[in-house]
Amino acid sequence: MTNLSDILNVEAFEGLAQSRLDRVAVDYFRSGSWGEHTVAENLAAWQRLWLRPRCLVNVSQRDPSVSLFGDRMPSPLLIAPTALHKMAHPEGEVATAKAAGACGVPMVLSSLSTCTVEEVAKVATSPLWMQLYISQDRGFTRSLAQRVEAAGCKAIMVTVDAPVWGVRERDIHNGFRVPDGLHIANLERPGLPTGHSGSGIGATLGWTIDASLTWKDFEMVCSAVKLPVLVKGILRGDDAIKAMDHGAQGVVVSNHGGRQLDGSIATASALPDVVQSVSGRVPVLVDGGIRRGADMLRAVALGARAVLVGRPVLWGLATAGQPGVERVLQLLLEEFSLSMALAGCPDIRSITSDLIARA
Ligand SMILES: Cc1cc2nc3c(=O)[nH]c(=O)nc-3n(C[C@H](O)[C@H](O)[C@H](O)COP(=O)(O)O)c2cc1C
Repeated sequence: MTNLSDILNVEAFEGLAQSRLDRVAVDYFRSGSWGEHTVAENLAAWQRLWLRPRCLVNVSQRDPSVSLFGDRMPSPLLIAPTALHKMAHPEGEVATAKAAGACGVPMVLSSLSTCTVEEVAKVATSPLWMQLYISQDRGFTRSLAQRVEAAGCKAIMVTVDAPVWGVRERDIHNGFRVPDGLHIANLERPGLPTGHSGSGIGATLGWTIDASLTWKDFEMVCSAVKLPVLVKGILRGDDAIKAMDHGAQGVVVSNHGGRQLDGSIATASALPDVVQSVSGRVPVLVDGGIRRGADMLRAVALGARAVLVGRPVLWGLATAGQPGVERVLQLLLEEFSLSMALAGCPDIRSITSDLIARA
């Protein structure tokens, strides 16, 4: 077993995780849709944003903390919702939540999790949020939202970039299905199978999404709970405005880690338009391709309140369970603080757009 403190960056976890998982799981976690161009561009677009550090600013004391919906967090970092953590490690989302708690990092639980929201809430010591798809059974979604609220979650994130599932060719090739013994824990309904197959998430989970959704359906979730409801999967300023007009209290710029429409704009490229349109009315978050603290700095400089990371957490979980996720989060927290120092930014407010070089 590799000593976790010898792992120097988040990317190194990917190779370690791949050597511990079977091919089907590796492909499920890393794949994007069709030609996987958006997966690659999500990573590349952050690196095209060159930084213009400030010199001789006193950065001996730095405050990387931010507030979101009344909770103070140590850094602008959250865990993105990703499905099926028990496929990475037997303790699944419970291990991820314990790691999040140890680092003070909020976690967004996927509605396709393998532990129930109540099981995860029981061990969570940092803010727990929940991601929802609006299913064909609106009554089910409404009651799940209320169950999430009752479990003590602090916010709900409704994913809106999945009217249908993106086509993940690796999963089709592998005949992907949920491994025997694992369950999509929050979505169990009498009489309905909860395994999934085909295009990553196929026929048996088809009812959990709905191609006929409109903003009215989003409003239904907002009215079902008192919690803040964020919208996840926005890539255009005009959609961000519609989201706010229909009750969104936060906007997440996301292309689902390149797993929905291949060819979608990278989130680093989409962020400025959304930030401009939102114009400070609600917090803007972003995910997709964040692998370094310097990427977090770039996102905050472009106006994001916080970032979310998806795959790196899965790689940490597969490598070493809870301690593996803790190491991934610590690396990002440390790198972000060091990036602030190196860019001449003692606090979040000083991370401004002029840090990014114009093309
Ligand atoms: C294996 C996997 C499963 C995912 N499951 C979900 C999900 O259940 N709900 C959701 O809204 N997004 C899901 N996502 C998308 C993530 O929330 C996030 O948008 C994306 O992973 C961010 O990109 P990154 O992996 O490059 O950090 C998933 C992503 C991956 C890689």
